[in-house]
This record gives sequence, structure tokens and C-alpha cells, in this order.
Amino acid sequence: MNNLIKVITKDGSISFKSEKFNENFHSKAGAYYETKNKFINPSKLERFQNKSINVLDICFGIGYNSALLFEKLKKIEFSNLNWYGLEIDKRPLNYALTDKKFNDLWSPKVIEILNSLNLKSFYKNKNLVCNLMIGDARKEILNLPKELNFDLIYLDGFSPQKCPEIWSYEFLSQLKNKINYEGYLITYTSAAAVRKSLKNLGFNLFNIVPTLSNKNNWSDGTLATFYNQPNNPYIKQLSEMEIEHLNTKASIPYRDLTGEMSSKEILEIRKKEQQFSKLLNTNAWRKKWEMA
Ligand SMILES: C[S@@+](CC[C@H](N)C(=O)[O-])C[C@H]1O[C@@H](n2cnc3c(N)ncnc32)[C@H](O)[C@@H]1O
Repeated sequence: MNNLIKVITKDGSISFKSEKFNENFHSKAGAYYETKNKFINPSKLERFQNKSINVLDICFGIGYNSALLFEKLKKIEFSNLNWYGLEIDKRPLNYALTDKKFNDLWSPKVIEILNSLNLKSFYKNKNLVCNLMIGDARKEILNLPKELNFDLIYLDGFSPQKCPEIWSYEFLSQLKNKINYEGYLITYTSAAAVRKSLKNLGFNLFNIVPTLSNKNNWSDGTLATFYNQPNNPYIKQLSEMEIEHLNTKASIPYRDLTGEMSSKEILEIRKKEQQFSKLLNTNAWRKKWEMA
């Protein structure tokens, strides 16, 4: 079964549940809410006033992250936007564009871009070029222009346990090669395996500060950058608890040695490695920080 089932999230915005991955595209709190707080605010788009900006949206899905990015950038006088999206399934955007609620969220200009991406996987105007590449992100990333590096990379796949192929050390190392020095890689996940891989690749890691309505969460995600002192009110240094998390068995990376392993193979290899690992037990870490 590979259906997409429509879901209305708590902020009223629509999303989907994927039967194949047995997971929702967004948290129940809200698709729009997630995009705004976990991706767009920490992007600090005002940095790009009068500048060119290159953006890569991985696991584009319905397109919330980029639709809101386009809306916000319209209000900033940027000079050029070169945008790439990677997505394996054309249906989420196609289905969402038939929904009135989804259409009502966006300005006519952004709907024009989304319609064009839906029909032609391409859009162009005087200061904006968009290419949506349909296929497995592991393959499509190799088809991006060689000379192009990104200022923003959004990584918004299903959770690592459901879709480990796009969180593997090998895939993340491809992203390392495609990001500018001051670029931000932004993701909603705080998973230790992802953070540890990024750390081992040389990224500086920051916690995306949870919004007030989400204050019971210790993190709204991860911002990774080679720049060591980003001036950004939406992020903070990792806490002692989060640093310790990176020394637990949960931090064992997802490995995809051939770049085409199945989810099942990736999960099995990691499970074996965890069984033999001498790293701190993740439950002991949870207990210590009263999360058991
Ligand atoms: C959590 S949803 C994305 C949410 C999205 N950013 C949005 O605004 O709707 C995950 C997306 O990853 C896509 N996906 C899953 N495996 C993929 C792969 N190997 N390569 C590219 N896209 C993939 C799914 O089709 C789905 O659209």
C-alpha cells in the first residue's frame, strides 16, 4: 500500500500520512507551524538582503518549506535565488494543489511557482530559477551542478528509523560537499545518530530553540554549519544533556556504504553495531536526564 492520506493538523494546515512509511509528513502541531518555526525562522533570511542565495530543499514533499521561503524572500530585496528541490514522489504537491486550504495559504505569485513545479518541475522569472529533481535524493544529489554550493539546505525526510537512507553518514557527507562555509543545514531532527555524523563531518551543531508552545521539548531540531559563531536568536549551543546524547548507542550512525542500500539493510547493520557497542546505553542516559 502506498497511499497518501490527507490529515488536518492542529494549526488548520493540511498534511499527509504516508502509508508506505507509516508516518505523517508533519507533526500533529501543524504543517505550517513546523515550517515556520523549524525551518524558516532559523534560516535568518534577512542575511540575504541584496544578495544571491542558493537553496536546496531535500524531501520537498508538499512544498511547505520552500513555499514559505518564497513568501518571506519576496519581502526581502534579494538579488537572485537559485533553488533546487529533491523529491522522490510527485504526488504530495500535486494533491495539495487541489486543496483550497493549501491554496489559500499562499500568495498568487507563490502559487504560480508551485503550479509550475507541479507541471514542469521548473520555474523561472527575472531573479528566480527553480528546479525540482524527481528521484531518489541519493542519486539526484549527484546531478546537481558541480560548481554550485548552497547557503541553505533543508533536510526534511521521514524520521531516521523510517527512512534511514537520507540520514546516513554517506548522504550527509554529500551535503558537506555542497554547502557554503556560512551556509546552514537545517533539519527538524535531534536524533543523536544524525547529529554525531554531522559532528564527525566537521559541522558545528546548534539546537533549534523550541517555541514557547513547544516548551516541553528540549529541541525543535538541529542547525549545522561550518561557521562557528552564527548570530541567530533561534538557535543555541547544545546543552550538556545533548552533548552526552552523542556518546550513547543512539549516536551510532546509519551507514549506506553503496549509496543504494535498502532501509532494512541500513537498519540491520546499525542494530548489530549497537549490540556490540561499548557506548553508554541510551536508556541510562534518558534516566539520568529524567526522560525515562
Ligand atoms: C516528511 S515528508 C516531507 C515534508 C515536506 N518538506 C513538506 O513540506 O511536505 C518526506 C518526503 O520525503 C520523500 N522521500 C522519501 N524518500 C526519499 C528519497 N529517497 N529521496 C527523495 N525523497 C524522498 C517523501 O516522498 C516525502 O515527500
